[in-house]
Amino acid sequence: MDLSIVVPTFNEGANVRELLRRLAATLDGTAYEVVFVDDSTDDTPDVIRGAAETSEVPVRLLHRERPVGGLGGAVVEGVRAASGDWCLVMDGDLQHPPEVIPELLERAGRGDVDVVVASRYMSGGTSKGLAGSVRTAVSRLSTVLTKAMFPRKLHGCSDPMTGFFLVHRPALELETLRPRGFKILLEILARRQLRLAEVPFDFAERYAGRSKASFTQGVRFLTQLTMLRFGRMSAFALVGGFGALANLAIMWALIAVGVEYVWAAIVASEITIVTNFLLLEYLVFADMRADSGLMRHRFAKSFTFNNIEAVIRIPVLWVLVEATHLPSVLAAAITLLAAFVVRFVFHALVVYAPRKRRPEPATAATVSADEIAA
Ligand code: GDD
Ligand code: MN
Repeated sequence: MDLSIVVPTFNEGANVRELLRRLAATLDGTAYEVVFVDDSTDDTPDVIRGAAETSEVPVRLLHRERPVGGLGGAVVEGVRAASGDWCLVMDGDLQHPPEVIPELLERAGRGDVDVVVASRYMSGGTSKGLAGSVRTAVSRLSTVLTKAMFPRKLHGCSDPMTGFFLVHRPALELETLRPRGFKILLEILARRQLRLAEVPFDFAERYAGRSKASFTQGVRFLTQLTMLRFGRMSAFALVGGFGALANLAIMWALIAVGVEYVWAAIVASEITIVTNFLLLEYLVFADMRADSGLMRHRFAKSFTFNNIEAVIRIPVLWVLVEATHLPSVLAAAITLLAAFVVRFVFHALVVYAPRKRRPEPATAATVSADEIAA
């Protein structure tokens, strides 16, 4: 079995040597390489280079100058660059004990599965290392929600959120993955029905450094879930729905303080045009940004489109209110709904249209030629 160990790292310098040491101790006698996919802003790449020089096994470093897709994006780059057919993905902070790897390999070696998941939530596993009861509750809840949304594909997987798994690369279609943030295993399992087995493990405390999990990662995860389950248009609709509510709330507040309804509608629209663009950038189209040119060009297109839309919509609103005597906020809601479909089509096909073809797998442009073999 050819084995590549893929480790995403973001400012994990203090963990690198200890990780390599424990891997070497556990995998003595097994042939493997370690591929670090690094997006660090500190000296972690130098630490990895230094450790590579004294390592008995090949240690490679892919340092990404232009990180795309966060942790998940890093894992996909690593799997793409790996030379082994079996890729073991694990965190670089030793929360995933290397000592479990032989069990994962043994399970894969039986030849009847495409992926072996190291699970905190099956019997024999624990999640003690998860910092705090809030984080534990969030993890539990999102696991249940996710399993409910993919009952068939995640059947037999008690921990689709884990970042510790062994996967047979030929079973993956790397081009179909849209990694965004932390939940890369979920992305892999939700795209395609894979044959799966699990091995329990104890999620440990961090060896050194700090977690990069955040509230933003949580929002990103919910977007990913929506997109995987219902497609991009529904995520777009959620953002649009949120924007429409914000629009109406601002309009209502302005009318309440005495602003004339047409002016209130104009101000409310301008504010939500900007906030909606930001939500689209960072959530709905996050995976398409890298290929669709400059952010300010996208903003110009989106802003122009939405203003033209508003220029059409606000007179329509006026006619609607004057002719039918509907309450102005209700009439505004009707016009916002009508504008939704046109806006989705324009953004998906024009604003986020790819500028260049996606890089071919072997020459991923985002990975600098910063590779060392020891
Ligand atoms: N290359 C790269 N780019 N690596 C990253 C990035 C990034 O943007 N963000 C985080 N990492 C690396 C970290 O350096 C670490 O090696 C690993 O990904 C996990 O990050 P942590 O910050 O330690 O996350 P965590 O411990 O809170 O979350 C882990 O456990 C969760 C289970 O509750 C991850 O494995 C999650 O995927 C997992 O869901
Ligand atoms: Mn961690």
